[in-house]
Amino acid sequence: MRIQSTFFREVVLGTSLQILRRGITLMIVVMTMVMFYPVEAFPLFGFSEDEKKPKESAPAIPPEYKDKQMPKGWRTDPNVLAAGKAIYEGTENSDVNCAGCHGIDGKPTRKGKGAPELSNPQEAQKSDAQWFWEISEGKRRTKMRGHAKHLTEEQRWQVIAYMRTFAQ
Ligand code: HEC
Repeated sequence: MRIQSTFFREVVLGTSLQILRRGITLMIVVMTMVMFYPVEAFPLFGFSEDEKKPKESAPAIPPEYKDKQMPKGWRTDPNVLAAGKAIYEGTENSDVNCAGCHGIDGKPTRKGKGAPELSNPQEAQKSDAQWFWEISEGKRRTKMRGHAKHLTEEQRWQVIAYMRTFAQ
């Protein structure tokens, strides 16, 4: 009887306590990780698949748009900029109202949620050809529609010239 109780105390109880203590230590470590490094710790639980996925890199400009160029001198031509402004603000053609989403001042409106801030120099780095393509064909799975039907090529360049002024 006595031997048995010693055995119970030393081995069974002792081992259980040890396991319990290790469990608690492990839990503290995991909780600390989650608290301080949530994103890094979540893969342990497989939660952050989405965050970990590299962002879809921007699709390349299709060949038919790659070499498109704004006519020389248009970027600073006051007549071009005035025409671009009229298109952008929807006074030229009420079916086309870029400002309704992109904002009169280049800051996206609520309707245009997700549109880039046009005064942001990083946006301004995108080439004319890329913008020309996006304005012509739209961007898939976004609110940005293609405008090739509503705007001639000339008009698309005018509006691009005008949009460039936001970042100046
Ligand atoms: C219904 C709202 C809406 C209208 C109208 C609209 N856009 Fe957009 N546009 C967007 C959104 C949203 C995006 C961002 C798409 C994305 O997620 O990349 C965008 C993106 C763009 C981009 C790409 C910017 C970049 O750097 O990636 C250009 C250029 C652009 N729009 C020009 C225009 C022009 C010019 C017009 C008018 C002819 C216009 N948009 C009308 C919503 C709109």
